[in-house]
Amino acid sequence: MFSFSTPDIWEKIANIQNSCEEALKLTSAGLVPEDPARDVPTLHPKLHPPKKGFSTVEGQARMLHDLASIELQAMELGLRTLVEFPDAPQGFREELLAVTVSEAEHLRMCLEGIESLGHKWGDWPVHLALWRAVSVEDSLLDRILIVHRYLEGSGLDAGDTLIRRLEGTAGKQTIQKIVKQINFEEIGHVDFGSRWYREICKENKIDPNTDFPERMDSLRIRLPKRIEPLNHDLRKKAGFTEEEIAYYETLRLDFLKPSK
Ligand SMILES: [Fe+2]
Ligand SMILES: [Fe+2]
Repeated sequence: MFSFSTPDIWEKIANIQNSCEEALKLTSAGLVPEDPARDVPTLHPKLHPPKKGFSTVEGQARMLHDLASIELQAMELGLRTLVEFPDAPQGFREELLAVTVSEAEHLRMCLEGIESLGHKWGDWPVHLALWRAVSVEDSLLDRILIVHRYLEGSGLDAGDTLIRRLEGTAGKQTIQKIVKQINFEEIGHVDFGSRWYREICKENKIDPNTDFPERMDSLRIRLPKRIEPLNHDLRKKAGFTEEEIAYYETLRLDFLKPSK
């Protein structure tokens, strides 16, 4: 019924709108597989082959391929939340459907970009690190915090660094355009998470200012470490408070410390 079990990436894109609409009709939580199906080998990010620089076409295509793997997981995580949280507010679910379809569009742009550079989906391994950062045990607030605020939030920082690295060099127009459009639209996705995080806190009489650090403290152990410098302007545009940004600055410093 849902596109998690479809391995073909183009079929996944073609099915996402229908899958989301079906998920919106659920009255009880649906089952989600442990891992979504893939039509290319999955491998832990640490085991991926080394990357080439952006001055090479291969390096550019590889970057889009890595981004495609992220967009695919973002798309499937959106659908997963729709399937697992049928009781979430209707407004949240409708907005999440739009975010999920937007991830599918990002994925399509990346795949077309890869092909325009003479490469194809599957030329490199992919990973499931984002998918595996969430759990069937999550509360809705956990899920929003992990996916839309932590993972997509750090994606804003990384995307902005990428845009700056791509600037001023000829021959990179294809990926520049794609990365800029994606990062611009991601601000909206993160803002969606920020707004609904606060709204759902309010509905449950939870103070978001105390909940944020407490919830992050309890979740951080299972999250992929993000060490990209924070982009405060983008973070503020996406609904983060000064205190939340300060929390992530401290978390980043912790992640940068050598592990014992
Ligand atoms: Fe995206
Ligand atoms: Fe997104």
